Formats: sequence, structure tokens, C-alpha cells
Amino acid sequence: MLRIYITGTPGTGKTTVAKNLSRNLNLDFLELNDLIIKEGLYLGYDINRDTLIVDDELLTKELLRKLRTTNKICISSGMVLLELPIDYIIILHSSISTLRKRLETRSYSEEKIESNLEAEIMNVLFYDFTEFYPPEIIYEIQNDDRSIEDTCKQIISVIRKHSLGITE
Ligand SMILES: Nc1ncnc2c1ncn2[C@@H]1O[C@H](COP(=O)(O)OP(=O)(O)O)[C@@H](O)[C@H]1O
Ligand SMILES: [Mg+2]
Repeated sequence: MLRIYITGTPGTGKTTVAKNLSRNLNLDFLELNDLIIKEGLYLGYDINRDTLIVDDELLTKELLRKLRTTNKICISSGMVLLELPIDYIIILHSSISTLRKRLETRSYSEEKIESNLEAEIMNVLFYDFTEFYPPEIIYEIQNDDRSIEDTCKQIISVIRKHSLGITE
């Protein structure tokens, strides 16, 4: 059984890393945003924040259903969902300059870029996840512009160590 949740501020490399890791470890890859759109798991669109208003309850229900059908899965998502049956939460990080460069290639407003950079600086996701999940399954991994394979290797290494009961 291997259920990995790859998260991070937009632009930290969730999708790229999760796809790669799924290929390496032979896991089902799930882009949570795609599921939300495909299954209509949203309530509307927040124009001010330029983001979908996700129906957390419906999404959690759908995700639990999915997690029941597979136990080898890698999920890519920037959302904090509670009480999911997952084995590892990997929070990706990138330096602020790298992140800014990556976000500038998207059609984000300067305001949206700034708010994402701020979330990364404050490490918001880490604090949110540690509130709801046991700290021993949460790992923070740096993903700057070194190779994606390196990042995946590092993730595989922490998983291996954890499953062997090795703590650093
Ligand atoms: N290790 C890396 N080295 C170089 N470029 C990377 C790396 N990881 C991600 N990227 C690039 O950064 C951009 C954002 O990655 P993406 O996976 O879309 O992030 P997210 O899903 O977290 O928003 C993409 O253009 C991707 O190719
Ligand atoms: Mg993505």
C-alpha cells in the first residue's frame, strides 16, 4: 500500500514531480484539480481570488471513493483536505526567486503571484497539514531547478527510511 499526497504552493512542482514519481513507483497519478473540474466538485468561481470555490465535502467523498479502489496512488494538490487515508504527505518547496519566475510564466495577476509567494514564505501548508495529520508522515522537500529525478529520489529515500523505521 502506498498512497502519497504531493502538495505545495502553486509552482513548486507538484504536477511535474507527482507524474514522475508515479511513473517511477508505478502508482496511479491523480491531479486533484482535474478531478474537481471533471466531476464538477465546485460551488462557483471566486473572481477576486481568481480561483475555483471547491466543494470540500463532495471532493472528500469522491476522493475517499477513489482511495478505496486503489492503494497505489500519487495525488497532486495544493488543497488541505482533512482525514484522508494517506501514507505520506510531501510538501514541495522552491526558492522565492524560482517560484516567482515559474509563476510569471502563468497568466497570474501580480497580486496572485504576491499572495502565493507570501504563502510559501509563511509555509502555510506545512502548518495546516501538521494540524490535521501526524507529523511523522509529513516531509518537506526542496524542488528548485535541479533535476526532477533528484527530487523524486529524495522522496523515495524518505519513504524508504520511514518504512524501515529510520528517523533522522
Ligand atoms: N526540478 C525542477 N527543475 C526544473 N523545472 C521544474 C522543476 N520542477 C518543476 N519545474 C517547472 O516548474 C513549473 C511549475 O511546475 P508544476 O509541476 O506545474 O507546479 P505545480 O503543479 O506545483 O503548480 C513547470 O514549468 C515545471 O516544468
Ligand atoms: Mg499543478
